[in-house]
Amino acid sequence: MIVLITGASAGFGAAMARTFVSHGHRAILAARRTERLDELARELGDSALPVTLDVTSRASIEAALNGLPEGWRDIDVLINNAGLALNTKPAHEVPLEDWDTMIATNCQGLVTMTRALLPSMVARSSGLVINLGSVAGHYPYPGGNVYGATKAFVEQFTLNLRADLVGTGVRATNLAPGLCGGTEFSNVRFKGDDAAAAKVYEGTVPLTAEDIANTAYWIATLPPHVNVNSIELMPTCQGFSPFAIKRS
Ligand SMILES: NC(=O)c1ccc[n+]([C@@H]2O[C@H](COP(=O)([O-])OP(=O)(O)OC[C@H]3O[C@@H](n4cnc5c(N)ncnc54)[C@H](OP(=O)(O)O)[C@@H]3O)[C@@H](O)[C@H]2O)c1
Repeated sequence: MIVLITGASAGFGAAMARTFVSHGHRAILAARRTERLDELARELGDSALPVTLDVTSRASIEAALNGLPEGWRDIDVLINNAGLALNTKPAHEVPLEDWDTMIATNCQGLVTMTRALLPSMVARSSGLVINLGSVAGHYPYPGGNVYGATKAFVEQFTLNLRADLVGTGVRATNLAPGLCGGTEFSNVRFKGDDAAAAKVYEGTVPLTAEDIANTAYWIATLPPHVNVNSIELMPTCQGFSPFAIKRS
C-alpha cells in the first residue's frame, strides 16, 4: 500500500508513518516542516517519501501532488490527519484569526486534499480516506467552540463521502479520538505554553499516538468489503460531564 499522511511531522502522523512502514507499506510524509519530515524519512528509509505541503494552500497541495515521482502516484490510503486546535477562550473572546486557521486547516485543507486524490481512487475502484475527527465533534465543552465544530464537519463530510462513494469500491472513515498525550497538540493549542499543555494530561493515562496509529492501520487492513464509517476512542480515564446549569 501507498499511504499519504498529512501532518506526518509530529504526533499521530509520525506514529502512523512508522506503523505502516514497519508493516511493509510505503508512506508519503506531508507537512510544512521539511526538516522534521526529512528526519523521519531518514529513519524510515526508502519506504518513506517526504513532501512539504501546506494543506491550507490549494497551490501548495497541487504542486506537491504533481511533483510526486513515478511509482508514488497511485495512493491507496489518504490519511487527512493535519489539524489543530487553537485556544480555549470562550467564543466572545477568542481571536477571530484562531477560528480562521482552524477552519482553513481542519475543514478547507481536508476537503482540498480529498478532492485532489479521490478521482484516482475511484478510477482504480479502490482506496480509503481516513479523516481525523475528534470526540470534540461529538460532545461540546467550554472553549471547544470552533475546534469542535470543525471536527463535526469532518465527521459529516466523511459520511457524505460514503454516500457518494457507494458502489465505487472507495472507503471512508471518521477516526475520532479523545484525550491523547505525547503529541504537540496541546502545545500548539496553548501557543508554546508548556506548563498549560502539560496540565491537560496531569494525573491521566491518555491515549497515545501509537494507539491511534494502530487503529488507523487496523481500519486500512480490513477486508475491502468492510467500511468503518466512524470510530470513537477515549482513554479509560475519560468520560462525560453533566449538563452545566447556572443557578441564581
Ligand atoms: N491529540 C489529541 O488529543 C487529539 C484528539 C483528537 C483528535 N486529534 C486530531 O488529530 C490530528 C493530529 O493531532 P496530533 O495530536 O498528532 O497533533 P500534532 O502533534 O500537533 O500534529 C499536527 C500535525 O499537523 C501538521 N499541520 C498543521 N497545520 C498544517 C498545515 N497547514 N499543513 C500541513 N500540515 C499541517 C503539523 O505539521 P507542520 O507544523 O510541520 O505543518 C503536525 O505534523 C489533528 O487533526 C487533531 O485535531 C488530536
